[in-house]
Amino acid sequence: MIKRFTIRRLGPADLERILEIEAASFGREAWDRNLFAEYSRTCGDLFLVAEEGPRNICGYMITCTRGGRRRGQAELVSVAVDPRARGRGAASALMESTLRRLRRRAITRLSLMVKTTNGAARAFYEKYGFRKVRRVPRYYEDGADAWLLKKGTDAFF
Ligand SMILES: CC(C)(COP(=O)(O)OP(=O)(O)OC[C@H]1O[C@@H](n2cnc3c(N)ncnc32)[C@H](O)[C@@H]1OP(=O)(O)O)[C@@H](O)C(=O)NCCC(=O)NCCS
Repeated sequence: MIKRFTIRRLGPADLERILEIEAASFGREAWDRNLFAEYSRTCGDLFLVAEEGPRNICGYMITCTRGGRRRGQAELVSVAVDPRARGRGAASALMESTLRRLRRRAITRLSLMVKTTNGAARAFYEKYGFRKVRRVPRYYEDGADAWLLKKGTDAFF
């Protein structure tokens, strides 16, 4: 089967494109360059991009692993796909690559926060077996609530 997306780590030349996808996806709530640069420094091994054809980045996913008492756990901190490229499996390819990489590092638990009103993202996470842990009131800057979701990283989701 021909793979539609190539998944690889973020490179220094990719940041401009990530900022475009971010602005198109989150508008006024988009993260800025400094925050992405910080994630690239601290979580760069799991800051992944999806390419649909050569040099055509259409999405990204950032996951950070934890240390100390929370060793073996990771947090999916953000994912976004260019609105023009949605519904074709880019986020799924990013998730599957992330889960494979986590398993290789013996990370067994993955958590994330999602806006309770974000239907597309909630359906996406549900498809991958994430389960609701609890509702977190006013988690976002605009006052919106979040769901804390979790799943195991095993292959059978
Ligand atoms: C959520 C998001 C990343 C999904 O990206 P995508 O590449 O379109 O997702 P995929 O094509 O891989 O879809 C995988 C599954 O997610 C679900 N899904 C994706 N978009 C959906 C939508 N609009 N409505 C309902 N379910 C949806 C479906 O279950 C889908 O599986 P299917 O194709 O078998 O039906 C994308 O909509 C996005 O970038 N949204 C804006 C940013 C955002 O909200 N990020 C999450 C922050 S927590």
